[in-house]
Amino acid sequence: MKTKLQTLIELELPIIQSPMAGVQGSELAIAVSGAGGLGSLPCAILTADNIYKELKSIESHTNKPYNVNFFCHKPPAINEAREMKWREALEPYYKEFGIITDDISPSASRSPFNHELADLLEGFNPAVVSFHFGLPEKALVDRVKASGAKVLSSATTVKEALWLEAHGADIIVAQGVEAGGHRGIFLSEDSESTNERAPKYGMAMQIGTFALLPQVVNAVSVPVVAAGGIADTDGIAAAMRLGASGAQLGTSYLLCDESKTSMVHREALKSNQTAETALTNLFSGRPARSMVNRFIRELGPMSDLVPDFPMASTATAPLRTKAEAMGSGDFSQLWCGQNASGCKEIGAAELTQRLAAAFQQSN
Ligand SMILES: Cc1cc2nc3c(=O)[nH]c(=O)nc-3n(C[C@H](O)[C@H](O)[C@H](O)COP(=O)(O)O)c2cc1C
Repeated sequence: MKTKLQTLIELELPIIQSPMAGVQGSELAIAVSGAGGLGSLPCAILTADNIYKELKSIESHTNKPYNVNFFCHKPPAINEAREMKWREALEPYYKEFGIITDDISPSASRSPFNHELADLLEGFNPAVVSFHFGLPEKALVDRVKASGAKVLSSATTVKEALWLEAHGADIIVAQGVEAGGHRGIFLSEDSESTNERAPKYGMAMQIGTFALLPQVVNAVSVPVVAAGGIADTDGIAAAMRLGASGAQLGTSYLLCDESKTSMVHREALKSNQTAETALTNLFSGRPARSMVNRFIRELGPMSDLVPDFPMASTATAPLRTKAEAMGSGDFSQLWCGQNASGCKEIGAAELTQRLAAAFQQSN
């Protein structure tokens, strides 16, 4: 029996590999799609040139369905006063590492989806185009849909799921608070002033995957995919039992051969640091789940000094680079979900097949 998701995009297995900006490229997507799952290419921090090359590579290696992922935040205006406060908070660390801050100018390290990227996509044939932080403007959603691709986005509440369905999403990921990386939260932002955002983000929208999933399934009629803390076959089966049409797993793929996870991140994933994760806005300006490290312990996890997403990362990047050069992940974003037990140092095709083989047996 195929799920609604499988039928919609002709997917062999009800498994989506999470798009994970910064830790993977086309190799991981190719391996997962080749194995029958939905491989994903994260584009949030890639240049248009690189997106083009990566998409070319995917389409030359597989003709199976794949997903291209973009962020769709509204880029903020640079707030100099806020930048200064953040630099002041980081000053002791700059001193410790001998970093000169004069040449760090605030810039956005992550760009949202736009018409140029939609033009670029027209030369390719992704089965799914997915977005994080809601959906782009209607004209862009319409262009993606007109190309034949299905539109996917993540909801962290039932309200967000209803909004996504009303605004054209064909597939909705119910992202529980357990998930690694950025929370997909997008509705709370509209009504909250940015200065107060950090503490509010910290308190709101903390729904677990298996509480959120059945409520979203009940509320919308499009296929719903479960994400957050799912790391094995039983987790996938449990999600399907609660009405999911598939499961999206990210953390479990972080140690795979094809992932580009950094050495410090890999080491942390293999250690007991995975036992302690937190939602933190320190690295980007938006809440995201990371393993707790020195930076989070000393300045966070949530801070209202942090500039708006995605500006925060400019000031922390030199610290991260210095520390990583010394073999330390103390200042790195160590994205990780609450369940890292699925991380395996094997090929992603094998991981996908293992998850699916056992899943198929259990049905
Ligand atoms: C390292 C990492 C990077 C992520 N980057 C993205 C991204 O670029 N785009 C996106 O839509 N989601 C991103 N996510 C969130 C995932 O889509 C998904 O919600 C999450 O991986 C599911 O939870 P799990 O990590 O517990 O499996 C990322 C997650 C991780 C772990």
